[in-house]
Amino acid sequence: MMEILHRDGLARIGRFEVNGRAVETPALMPVINPNIIVISPREMRERFGVHAIITNSYIINRDPKLREDALRKGIHSMLDFDGIIMTDSGTFQSHVYGEIEQNYLDIVEFQKKIGSDIATILDVFSEPEFTYEEAREAVEETYRRAGESKRIKGETYLGGTVQGSLYMDLRELSARLMNSLELEYYPIGGVVPLLENYRYSDIVRIVMAVKMNLDFGNPVHLFGAGHPMFFPLAVLMGIDFFDSSSYVKYARDDRVLFPDGTRYLSDLRYVPYPTEYLNSENLEDIKSMERDERFKILAKHNLKVSMDEIERIKASIFEGTIWEYVEERSRVHPALYDALMEFYGYSEFLERFESLSRKHPFYYTGIESTLRPTITTLEKRILENYRYRRNVCVVLNRKDLERAMRYIGSYDAHFIIKTCIGSIPFELLFIYPVFQAILPEKCYPRENLSTVLDSIDYDVLISWLSGIPDDLEKEKDYLVKSDGRDLDLLRVKAVADYQFGHGASEALFKGNVDIIKSKNTGMIRNIHVDGKHILSMRNDGFFTLKLDGGILLHKAFPFPRMRVIVTRDSEEFNRKGKNVFARFVKDMDNSLRPYDEVLVVNENDDLIGVGRTFFNWQEIRTLKKGMVVEIRENL
Ligand code: GUN
Repeated sequence: MMEILHRDGLARIGRFEVNGRAVETPALMPVINPNIIVISPREMRERFGVHAIITNSYIINRDPKLREDALRKGIHSMLDFDGIIMTDSGTFQSHVYGEIEQNYLDIVEFQKKIGSDIATILDVFSEPEFTYEEAREAVEETYRRAGESKRIKGETYLGGTVQGSLYMDLRELSARLMNSLELEYYPIGGVVPLLENYRYSDIVRIVMAVKMNLDFGNPVHLFGAGHPMFFPLAVLMGIDFFDSSSYVKYARDDRVLFPDGTRYLSDLRYVPYPTEYLNSENLEDIKSMERDERFKILAKHNLKVSMDEIERIKASIFEGTIWEYVEERSRVHPALYDALMEFYGYSEFLERFESLSRKHPFYYTGIESTLRPTITTLEKRILENYRYRRNVCVVLNRKDLERAMRYIGSYDAHFIIKTCIGSIPFELLFIYPVFQAILPEKCYPRENLSTVLDSIDYDVLISWLSGIPDDLEKEKDYLVKSDGRDLDLLRVKAVADYQFGHGASEALFKGNVDIIKSKNTGMIRNIHVDGKHILSMRNDGFFTLKLDGGILLHKAFPFPRMRVIVTRDSEEFNRKGKNVFARFVKDMDNSLRPYDEVLVVNENDDLIGVGRTFFNWQEIRTLKKGMVVEIRENL
């Protein structure tokens, strides 16, 4: 079973457990060929931090000695590995060698008997050049076999491979069919020929078609993706597992893996990503070694580089820099860059998994950064929630903001600031990602001014895009001084509407509003209304909702808006301040996003408390394990 520990969009760090053995994901399972063990599984565990491996039950079953050994000792003892062992079924051999002699139920039975932790069905490999009919048959036959295999698998976890060649409707169908079987594990198959030909954009389409049709809580494995170059983007799409024979295959040809591509050993004079196995110091010695010895060392280097890449990806998810990391890595090959662009084309879907903020600032790495869902979300929320009536709208450039401050503070108008990441109303300049964005002086700006202006209510437009005038001679008929203009109040209202949705500010700020600022920094900290503390402002410019604020929103927003509805069993615990676990959520507002502030209610819509959700409803619905909503204050 899979528990999600940290997440960013679809990318996640999880804990996958089976038969008392656990692995943290994303994880790379090195392929072990039981006939030729290049690095022993024990060494993999002890020196490379490998907690899960994959081997081939077809190869074992075919060889009388291996078969006997595996049946007698069990696969863990045979391979001398006490981590997770997944077994594949022989499908890949059918792709390489054509039809194989293997009954699809026998091979599952065999995997069960040798004690595999995750067995794989004998799926039908759908080749990229398949006709639609052939691909459809592969999907249907794979599903049929999966259904029958499920009946005999017993307690063994079963991987149901998703096939469908390059036909996205078939990939979607295959994912839905497999999902309906409620298996424990979901590999995506038939992609090796695409990986070998750098057809990464096709893989993006396939993975997204599958991810959009599988339950979020399911572990997903990309079969045969063993080159570290593709790991970052794959993880960003929500892939949890990889398997790799690349570390051996490439080493056999004297080829060296690096996170940015592959090089021939003979071409190296320096080692761009050195490891303890291969570095500039020992490079010449390794080149002149005997073939077998050299092969082993290169395999170790290749494995180390691959495992290190997984570690870097995990660190970037944890730090909130996975998007920056993938963009950076996408520059190592134009096909990867194309694939990233393909992925950003799914922004509407991705936005549902996008949190309003992350702990790391937004770094602009290039023109594509403004296509990230964090920026498309920003734009959409401004269009939807910045709905105030003013007679005049002034647009200006970010670099002129300081000069404009005296006007912004005293004239009643919309002030829209053109920045690299879009056109932003002044009131929203201090929220993530705007305030926290690290932008270069020269960037390709996100050109959305006309869209933003279209959504704003005003009569007269004043453009200061060519600079702020020395006096307001031309503007004097329109720009009207407003003595009571309270920028702080305008700001907290706009942030509340942006964060909680239209109508929030009206519900929250009725009465005597007291905005309390930090004495040291001058930043807004707490908001009291009629003496009650309703909101606190975080460093990312958004609010944490206090219980008194929650009571106001609960009263103003109709059911089920902003709500997480928990079962009776859960209510008792949540009323004591205990967090909400996945199994106890009955329903939830569909528009809530991960890390949003929420109102926790029972089925009668009685307010239980306020808190923060870690997942959206699409996700919670399918999670079997783990805490999903943190209760901050309870009634
Ligand atoms: N290994 C690489 N690709 C595949 C696939 O499509 N199915 C199975 N079972 N194993 C694979």
